[in-house]
Amino acid sequence: MRVVLAPMEGVLDHRMRDLLTQVGSYDLCVTEFIRVVDQVLPDRVFHRYCPELIDADVYGSSTKAGTPVRVQLLGQDPDYMAENAAKVVELGSQGIDLNFGCPSKTVNKNRGGSILLKDPENLYQIIKAVKAAVPADTVVSAKIRLGYEDKLLAIENAQAVEAAGANELTVHARTKVEGYKPPAHWHWIAKIKHAINIPVIANGEIWNLEDAIKCREVSGCRDLMVGRGALTIPNLGQVIKQESHIMPWSEVLAILSAYTEFETHGDKSKYYCNRIKQWLKYLKGHYQEADELFGEIRRFKSAEEIKAAF
Ligand SMILES: Cc1cc2nc3c(=O)[nH]c(=O)nc-3n(C[C@H](O)[C@H](O)[C@H](O)COP(=O)(O)O)c2cc1C
Repeated sequence: MRVVLAPMEGVLDHRMRDLLTQVGSYDLCVTEFIRVVDQVLPDRVFHRYCPELIDADVYGSSTKAGTPVRVQLLGQDPDYMAENAAKVVELGSQGIDLNFGCPSKTVNKNRGGSILLKDPENLYQIIKAVKAAVPADTVVSAKIRLGYEDKLLAIENAQAVEAAGANELTVHARTKVEGYKPPAHWHWIAKIKHAINIPVIANGEIWNLEDAIKCREVSGCRDLMVGRGALTIPNLGQVIKQESHIMPWSEVLAILSAYTEFETHGDKSKYYCNRIKQWLKYLKGHYQEADELFGEIRRFKSAEEIKAAF
């Protein structure tokens, strides 16, 4: 069984990947999406989203814990997607993931993300072009939702993904219109899995071990992807794979402190305050202490104040 750490734009950056893969026993990370429009992006863009590529020749595009990191691209133009994919693989990414699930309005206006689920032929052309542009042994994966407004094309889209030569498919078991509203329709993943022969990774609403067991049972998938759950329970991958205990708050606090050190001494990122508050909001889902800490720091605007509270 594999547990994949989900891509989460604006949340799950390389620092969080680093910390979560140290405690979570995750098998693979996918980066936040990198938008491709009408150019081949410079190296620095790929390095910004995926600093793990910088020493990829030494560490093989992995987190410090040794977990492989795969770059995710989002776009609609098959040629530019292919050229960028080839470049990312040259830079050392452990495969390419293609985003066909993003619900964002700006993204969809440019015809990237989930809007492509209305057009299985476009999906097919993008994946086929990407597959042809990268070495034969490069894993090309796609991430889809069940559809845009409805689920009528769910199977056709999955079949297009397979026919184009993708090596694996992640299914976030909701339509674009369903957003992030529970439930995730895991039984639809089972329908998709029956219709294709490549490995399918089930995603959506896996918050704990019970959800993971149920999702595997209903979807028939061995492999799972977890997003918000991994921010709520940092060692969720380990909990799912080894039935380990959920890590105690004292260990979570150590991770939060390490994140703070990274952010405030590393590159003085201005995002730190928002990120840490956002993370605490997820942690509140399991840890009462996170709720209390959030209450204490929510008005703080500087990293120094937040650090002092830790
Ligand atoms: C804040 C946020 C950002 C996300 N960014 C991405 C992204 O960049 N690429 C992507 O494929 N999915 C993205 N997703 C979707 C997640 O990867 C995942 O499919 C979704 O959250 C459902 O899984 P979960 O219930 O385990 O969180 C994002 C989700 C959230 C909440």
